[in-house]
Amino acid sequence: EQLLKEDALRGKRVFIRADMNVPRDAEGNVADDHRLRESMPAVKMALEGGAAVMVCSHLGRPKEGALTEEDSLIKVAEHFGRMLGMPIRFEKDWLNGVDIQPGEVVVLENCRGNVGEKKNDPELVAKMAALCDIYVNDAFGTAHREQATTDGLAREAEVAVAGPLLAKEIHALKKAVAEAKHPLTAVVGGSKVSTKLTILKNLAPKVDTLIVGGGIANTFLLAQGHKIGKSLAEPDLVDECKAVMKIMEEKGGHLPLPIDVVVAHHIGYDAGFRICDLDDIEDDEMILDIGPKTSKLLEPYIKEAKTIIWNGPLGVFEMDNFKEGTRNLAKDIADATANGAFSIVGGGDTIAAAKVFEVADKVSYISTGGGAFLEFLEGKTLPAIAALQERTK
Ligand code: 3PG
Repeated sequence: EQLLKEDALRGKRVFIRADMNVPRDAEGNVADDHRLRESMPAVKMALEGGAAVMVCSHLGRPKEGALTEEDSLIKVAEHFGRMLGMPIRFEKDWLNGVDIQPGEVVVLENCRGNVGEKKNDPELVAKMAALCDIYVNDAFGTAHREQATTDGLAREAEVAVAGPLLAKEIHALKKAVAEAKHPLTAVVGGSKVSTKLTILKNLAPKVDTLIVGGGIANTFLLAQGHKIGKSLAEPDLVDECKAVMKIMEEKGGHLPLPIDVVVAHHIGYDAGFRICDLDDIEDDEMILDIGPKTSKLLEPYIKEAKTIIWNGPLGVFEMDNFKEGTRNLAKDIADATANGAFSIVGGGDTIAAAKVFEVADKVSYISTGGGAFLEFLEGKTLPAIAALQERTK
């Protein structure tokens, strides 16, 4: 796809669709600025190229045509301005024209306030296309949405290109899946098989080792005929798990399931817990983490991998009593990366875990995508990327 290049920008009006949909605290201040940091290169590049720069993003899921103060992007814009180290302007009403000069940055109010954004309304798209000479999509986190600022503009703007972050994300994800160096190990954890089933099915034929965790692993254990007490699982999906196991078996891959677990009677900081073997779980106990033997079992699959994809924790890592499994995993991934493996981490929970266990700066790549990251792993074509690709054809 075509990339944003500095030498074609002088005097141009550039409209950058970024993903500044960041977590906020109770006062509405930015709680985590990873996405903002990753959005800076595009803006800097446009500025250095001599463009007039409009930055557009959504924030949350407000009602169109009825933005409240809480939905406003203004605090995020101010934070971004501080990071950029230059004065930036904030424009509330921007659809009918933005007064801007080369060398200036204007952050536009939450684009999801505009009626027609969600349904990709052609009239709205035309208005936005008239604002700029060049449209840059740099919002990987929103690439799975077919909306006016992610799809329509990519088709209608005079020039439409991919920004550096979008390109970087695609490159990293390709490196982890389609063009991966083997052995390739994917870790898919979390609570429900149903939310990750497409990922499991898509990844199984491509990976050498599939490690499952959390409620997902519990459902696999059910499929193997184990008793799992009152652990979270989805019995309806046992056949789907068997199908995934079959794929892995037929190709000679590995799907190492837990051999010991941490169990408790309830989820809580105060919950008494014990470590037990798989055949020793009482009816009123639930699995909340993998045990130390399982961590040992998984270690070589991580440490010998050349590529590691990590999405989803292995236990209730937020609580001290159930965090060890995820912590050991995080540490193994960091070690493997230090030894030359390429590791990619994505998804809100997983990034939180990587931060808690202090490996966020020790993995090769942290995706800014939540849903977009997952859909990419599912093997889906992301509409915003497809729209740009069609333009270059
Ligand atoms: C995200 O946070 O995953 C993206 O910003 C997309 O947001 P959405 O799910 O509200 O479209």
